[in-house]
Amino acid sequence: MTLDTADLVDRRIPGRSLEAPFYASREVFDLDLAAVWTRQWIFVAAEGELPEPGDYVTAAIGPYSIIVVRDDDENLTALHNVCRHRGARILTEERGSVGNIVCGYHKWTYRTDGSLLHAPAQDGGFDPACFGLKTVHVRSVGGLVFVCLAEDPPPDFAEVASRIEPYLLPHRLREAKVAARVDLVEDCNWKLTMENNRECYHCDGHPELVRSFFPTYGYREDQLPPPLRPAYERYCRVRAELRETYDRLGLPYETIEELTRPSGFRIEREPLDLAGESFTPDGTAACRRLLADFPTARLGHLSLHWQPNAWFHVLSEHAITFAVLPIAPDRTLLRTTWLVHPDAEEGVDYDLGRLTKVWTATNEQDADLVTRAQCGITSPAYEPGPYAPSEYQVDAFCTWYLTRLREHLRR
Ligand code: FES
Ligand code: FE
Repeated sequence: MTLDTADLVDRRIPGRSLEAPFYASREVFDLDLAAVWTRQWIFVAAEGELPEPGDYVTAAIGPYSIIVVRDDDENLTALHNVCRHRGARILTEERGSVGNIVCGYHKWTYRTDGSLLHAPAQDGGFDPACFGLKTVHVRSVGGLVFVCLAEDPPPDFAEVASRIEPYLLPHRLREAKVAARVDLVEDCNWKLTMENNRECYHCDGHPELVRSFFPTYGYREDQLPPPLRPAYERYCRVRAELRETYDRLGLPYETIEELTRPSGFRIEREPLDLAGESFTPDGTAACRRLLADFPTARLGHLSLHWQPNAWFHVLSEHAITFAVLPIAPDRTLLRTTWLVHPDAEEGVDYDLGRLTKVWTATNEQDADLVTRAQCGITSPAYEPGPYAPSEYQVDAFCTWYLTRLREHLRR
């Protein structure tokens, strides 16, 4: 039986979770690739992952494989990882460094800007200029690298980037270096990974995180359950104090929430609990060397949510990027990267275990939760259930997503 995807999109009840085929069917997964993943700006890496000319990362977006490489002029280039000879996957590692990009099959050799340098033993009429690697749009926003597979990317990205960048630039992420990177494959649809990130209704499943992260996230004051009131009072006190610090340091902190526009995002600066410096058991800094010349480590965290595939926590002394990439209808990659000052030394300025502990544990707990969600949703007994008020960002994510599907189906 063929799925009527247009009907599925149209009959969604706002305020309720999506129907099962959105999470389980191959047809919807293919639609997601066409309507979302090949049309929107997708976060794939931090610039710190490719500091030198020739450094590259690869990212798989469904069946696509993209190379992001720093070319000889130190610009970022994004290329399809598909040889123009007979189509072989060229770079098979997740990251590395190359002089030129050489296909291992018959040794066609491309420059780091994608142009074809050399194709062995072709005849005289062969024109290398016709066989450069296909390019992909790429743009760094304050050190965060986004790609877009569409010929015509969403036109609102430049404006959104210009509003996000002032929040990011003081943290100097362009120069930051990678302290750790962890790939976690979750047994669920990519939308469950994203939805799970957009609420803190489940935050008591994160004992390590909620020591420093306020579990009041997403709640309006009048909706707070009584057990969260003391934390909310502390949150308000620290927020007022931090805003004075932000004003003094010229750090923008106004919350901007535009989650349903094409390049949908939410950015804000939020306090942390305890010492207020980092995601550690006592809230003190995990890295002695701060990312920039801040007079204090107590800056809370800058939180950025990106539709459709990312979130970020940027602190005074490290930053964490989270990229969600679809593998199959029920398999999703969560790629987490920890960034520190380029001169920070492991074992001297930071202990890697302490730096990564909270979010490694949190990611594993979330992977378990979203796997459970995927299992339940694929039972015939599942029917969409109502969101709590504090899950309004989950609803906003689904609204964003369905709007993209509608736009695609109308085309
Ligand atoms: Fe790449 Fe032949 S497929 S050189
Ligand atoms: Fe979680």
